Amino acid sequence: MYYPDDVIEEVRTRNDIVDVISQYVNLKKKGANYFGLCPFHNEKSPSFSVSGDKQMYYCFGCGAGGNVITFVMEYENYSFAEAVKLLADRAGITLPEITYSREARALSDLKNTLLEINRLAANYFYYQLKQPNGRIGYEYFKNRALADDTIKHFGLGYANKVSDDLYRYMRSKGYEDSILKETGLFFIEERGARDKFWNRVMFPILDVNNRVIGFGGRVMGDGEPKYLNSPETKLFDKSRNLYGLNFARTSRAGYILICEGYMDVIAMHQAGFTNAVASLGTAFTSQHALLLKRYANQVILTYDSDGAGTKAALRAIPILKEAGISVRVLNMKPYKDPDEFMKNLGKEEFQKRIDNAVNSFMFEISVIRSQYSMQDPESKTAFYNAAARKLLEFPEKLERDNYTEAVAREYMIPLEDLKRLVASLGGRFGTGVKPAQDEKTRIRPKKDKEDGIKKSQRLLLTWLIERPELLAKIDGIIGPEDFVDGLYQKVAGLVFEELRKGKVSPAQILNQFIEGEEQYREVAALFHASLSESLNNEEQKKAFSETVKKIKKNSLEVQSKKAADIAQLQKIIRQQSELATLQISLDGI
Ligand code: GTP
Ligand code: MN
Repeated sequence: MYYPDDVIEEVRTRNDIVDVISQYVNLKKKGANYFGLCPFHNEKSPSFSVSGDKQMYYCFGCGAGGNVITFVMEYENYSFAEAVKLLADRAGITLPEITYSREARALSDLKNTLLEINRLAANYFYYQLKQPNGRIGYEYFKNRALADDTIKHFGLGYANKVSDDLYRYMRSKGYEDSILKETGLFFIEERGARDKFWNRVMFPILDVNNRVIGFGGRVMGDGEPKYLNSPETKLFDKSRNLYGLNFARTSRAGYILICEGYMDVIAMHQAGFTNAVASLGTAFTSQHALLLKRYANQVILTYDSDGAGTKAALRAIPILKEAGISVRVLNMKPYKDPDEFMKNLGKEEFQKRIDNAVNSFMFEISVIRSQYSMQDPESKTAFYNAAARKLLEFPEKLERDNYTEAVAREYMIPLEDLKRLVASLGGRFGTGVKPAQDEKTRIRPKKDKEDGIKKSQRLLLTWLIERPELLAKIDGIIGPEDFVDGLYQKVAGLVFEELRKGKVSPAQILNQFIEGEEQYREVAALFHASLSESLNNEEQKKAFSETVKKIKKNSLEVQSKKAADIAQLQKIIRQQSELATLQISLDGI
């Protein structure tokens, strides 16, 4: 624990969840709650709800949920302590000093310790670059036309040829193997430990909050693999981070440049295009698109001009468009990538290419065009057909017509002929031939089929929180011990205890599950079984009564299996027969 409970509670209560989340998500009031587009998954209609009463958020689409502290943790990719700090600053609360022993540090927050080690490693690599042994790395960067300022700005470094010096350095700083294992920087085996990176120039990877979350390293000479990246760790999620975004996010260009490699990002930033980012040796994902969307709704793809780059662009375009980002594609020819382009033609020419970047649809058409020969009548006809089919992807007539015109102009196809072709193919295939990907396939996979009992338990907890007066109706009939799952029982215990004291604050209860255990998502779901249902009509009163009975029945079954003696078993059987005739009256509710 970093801070006393009452400090955390003060930080939480002084930051109204609706205010805080409104800074990140556009919320609209609907009934007692606020709704908006979920920032944690890709969606078109709002299923992300924020409750001022509960001081909690919950997404009915992907199941993300929690209180104001977990929101900041998830959105900013912060640790618990960092989120508390941000919110304390926001509310003008001065936090007490955190003090922790070496053991506590190792145990308490793994993420913070990993960040500390990464930061030290980045400094170590940077230092090596300036040593005589690091000369080879420094000269490599110089040969690639990087200025000293650029090297410093990106914190570039060098991992030397000694195979375990970083490891020994970290041990000398007091870090144990158990934690060093988690960094992805070392191979730790019985026989000894080795550094993962050696004889490579090093690119520290920073997240949007300027924290070192991983590394990329380029081999000196022709070794394999050319680039080596940190593995995924507790900190490093390749599909949720982009190289250079920590700088690009503050660029005022209004669009983001996406390229393939570290060196491309660096070359562009050095030339003044500080809005360039790259995915980290992996394909572009819809999570990347969501991340970018926080900062810009336009991107320009500057992938390599070779076949692989074109393929990567064709893959990224629908993902970006799906997230509501408009896409253009830059023509780099005759150069392979932005780095080479910049070296040969310079930034003014690059700016011209940006200005002339083509809309992603026209790019897709040009790729299709390159697969056909215009000399051969049959092939030419096939191209017209392919282009017409592609045009049918626009479900809106007006937009389709505009693009039809643009394609006709670009490829000198008589407009009326192309229009007729589109219309006739449209008659056959219908428009919107490639419907947008089903939202369900993109969101986090739901848990296996809902366990009925668990659902009942969630319903009851949600109802109790929303209508505390229900407690009186069921006290004596059902208690926390009837919630048979360990986590559910713990939460129910807290809810019942607070209810008996008179008030229950779900967001406060949640605090107990944030640190270390990371069970808060599940706990948040316990309080959101039916946000929209209320207990006003007869049907729902009946549902309440049935729910209570179902939980109790299950609980008695579980107890009977564990019963230690006949007396106990008889008691359970008696309770079971009482339950059969039990009436729960909700009169007056
Ligand atoms: P340089 O030769 O340094 O100029 O490379 P480049 O900038 O031309 O990069 P390249 O097109 O070869 O690769 C682009 C990006 O893909 C790199 O920045 C890496 O992120 C990634 N990459 C390239 N090669 C490898 C590899 O062997 N393994 C992994 N994991 N990633 C690679
Ligand atoms: Mn290159």
